[in-house]
Order: sequence, then structure tokens, then C-alpha cells
Amino acid sequence: MNKDSKIYIAGHNGMVGSAIWRTLTVKGYTNLLGVSSAALDLRNQQAVADFIAAEKPEVIIDAAARVGGILANNDYPYQFIMENMQIQNNLIDSALKFGVEKFIFLGSSCIYPKLAPQPLKEEYLLTGTLEPTNEWYAIAKITGVKACEAIRKQFGKDYLSLMPTNLYGTHDNFDLNTSHVLPAMMRKFHEAKENNHAPVTLWGSGTPMREFLFVDDMAAAVIFALENKLPDYLYNVGTGKDLTIKQLAETIQKITGHYGEIIWDASKPDGTPRKLMDITKMHELGWKHQVQFEEGIQKTYTWFLENIDRFKEVKM
Ligand SMILES: NC(=O)c1ccc[n+]([C@@H]2O[C@H](COP(=O)([O-])OP(=O)(O)OC[C@H]3O[C@@H](n4cnc5c(N)ncnc54)[C@H](OP(=O)(O)O)[C@@H]3O)[C@@H](O)[C@H]2O)c1
Repeated sequence: MNKDSKIYIAGHNGMVGSAIWRTLTVKGYTNLLGVSSAALDLRNQQAVADFIAAEKPEVIIDAAARVGGILANNDYPYQFIMENMQIQNNLIDSALKFGVEKFIFLGSSCIYPKLAPQPLKEEYLLTGTLEPTNEWYAIAKITGVKACEAIRKQFGKDYLSLMPTNLYGTHDNFDLNTSHVLPAMMRKFHEAKENNHAPVTLWGSGTPMREFLFVDDMAAAVIFALENKLPDYLYNVGTGKDLTIKQLAETIQKITGHYGEIIWDASKPDGTPRKLMDITKMHELGWKHQVQFEEGIQKTYTWFLENIDRFKEVKM
């Protein structure tokens, strides 16, 4: 990989894509390509093929997807399965057709079976039933992993998939209708603090365990995969440590400075009881996360406060 290699980052305006862009720029990469969804709708097969044929990137990093939490997955199952398959299929197929040398596909830890042993090893893929609240998204992601694996097997190309655990950080989505648990909590605690430390109601029992990785560490993992020819087709990316949703809430409550009550609404779904990645494969190759959890939460909250005006327009 040269510093002037043409690298197309699909989804470069998103949380992960923008972190990859920033990190590559800092590392001196000079030939990055990014297009917004308004200029290129990745669901449009012909438009994607024309774009890849014209631009001929050497590498594609696919960080474009329809992403969301339990609520959004539950309300829009068709969009979650279909749009994700369209976006990734169009990119992967055009990459193969037009000679893209390397393709890095980003999936998600929800591809693993709901009741798989913990921590989740890559080999557990397709060994059991998925978590029903996000199976639409998970099935789309599994087809992306398999398409890249098939290209690797059949054509010997360096197409691979990284499975991130739950990510958070700067440029996260703080819209309560579509956000993931961590930014949703951060916004709720912040607004409750502003509202005289009003009680905060959170979904579920607080007992499920989750792992969280700061987005800059994810970007570093992507760049590690970019700069090295990794021997396998699928790698988990995480911290290897998890905490309960209750511990997560208490950490965010402390960092936002909220002193009010936390109410757990146990009538709402908890999702998978535990989701911890086994990250032995990435560790053995030499990648490891750098940002500790409280430090990452503090950085995210600082960014949230600096950008608060843009969230005020988003309805709660
Ligand atoms: N966030 C997490 O916790 C998490 C965890 C595991 C895996 N991942 C994976 O990481 C990747 C990036 O996630 P993220 O959190 O960065 O998501 P994000 O902030 O929502 O960004 C997604 C990006 O995808 C682009 N996009 C969506 N639909 C598109 C379309 N039809 N045409 C063109 N572009 C489209 C958007 O472009 P515009 O901004 O231009 O509209 C947006 O920048 C995804 O593959 C996701 O599955 C995320």
C-alpha cells in the first residue's frame, strides 16, 4: 500500500467512515475518495458500477450501511435487510468486476448466534439462531461476509471482513429514534441533568453485558487490515472486555454529571444476554485497542457538548 494509493471510503461521512478518513489523512494518505449518499446512492446498482469503473480505486473500505439500534431495526426490518444487501452487493460486485485489489467489509457482532458461547469466536458464524430483534441487519451482513469470502476463495483476491463490537465516539448518532444504546443514554442523561436532574428511564433490566470500542480504535483496526495482508477472511474487532448495561449507565451518568434517579423499564426488550468478542486473532497479528472506556466516554461527551446545537433540531 502506497501513500498515494487510491482508497475509496464508502460512508466517509458516518461515524466510522469519518474516523477512518481522519486517521488515514493523519498517516499521510493523499488519495482518498469519498462521496455522500446524496451524490451517489449506493443502492443504485448502475450508478455504483459507473462510479467504480470511472474512478478505479485500488482499495474499497465499505463503511456505508443503514445502521440503527433495537427500535430502528424493529420498525424498519425491510430497509435493514434490503438496503444493506443492496449497498454491499453493489460495492462488492463492482469491485470484483473493475479490478479493485482489496476490499474491507465492515459487519457487526450481531452476525453471531444469539446463544453462542462467549466470548464469540469467528468460527461460531452460522452455528445457531440469530437474535430476532436485529436478524434483518445480521442476515444482510452475513451475506456480505460470505460474498467477500467467496471472492477470496474463487479469485484469490484480498477481500476480507472485520466484525466490530459496539462502537461509540465522536460523530455518533444522538437521535433517540435511531441511535444505539450508548449515545442514547448520553443524550438522556445530559438532558435530564439540564432538566434539574430529572429521573432517567432506560430500556430493559440493565443486566445484559456489552462490549464497547472507541471509534478511533476501530479506524486503527481498519488501517491495520489495509496495510497488512491478513491471512483469513473474517476478524473480530473489540476490546475483549465487557460490562453490564447498568455499569454503562452509571459511567455515563457520572461523566455527564447527572445526579437523579435511574428507572429501568423491564417491559422493554433486553436483547442478547451477553455479547463479547473473542479478539485473539487480531491480537495475535498485532492489533490491540488503545483507548480505555472512561477516556472514550469523556471524549465522546466533550464532542457531544461541542456539537450540541446540531442535535437540538433532532426531535426526541
Ligand atoms: N456504530 C456501531 O456501533 C457499529 C457497530 C458495528 C458495526 N458497525 C458498522 O460500521 C459501519 C459504519 O457504521 P457507522 O456507525 O459509521 O454508521 P453511520 O454513522 O450511520 O454512517 C453510515 C454511512 O453510510 C452512508 N450510507 C447509508 N446509506 C447509504 C446509501 N444508500 N448510499 C450511500 N451512502 C449511504 C451514509 O452516508 P451519508 O452520510 O452521506 O448519508 C453514512 O455516512 C457499518 O457497516 C456498520 O454496520 C457499526
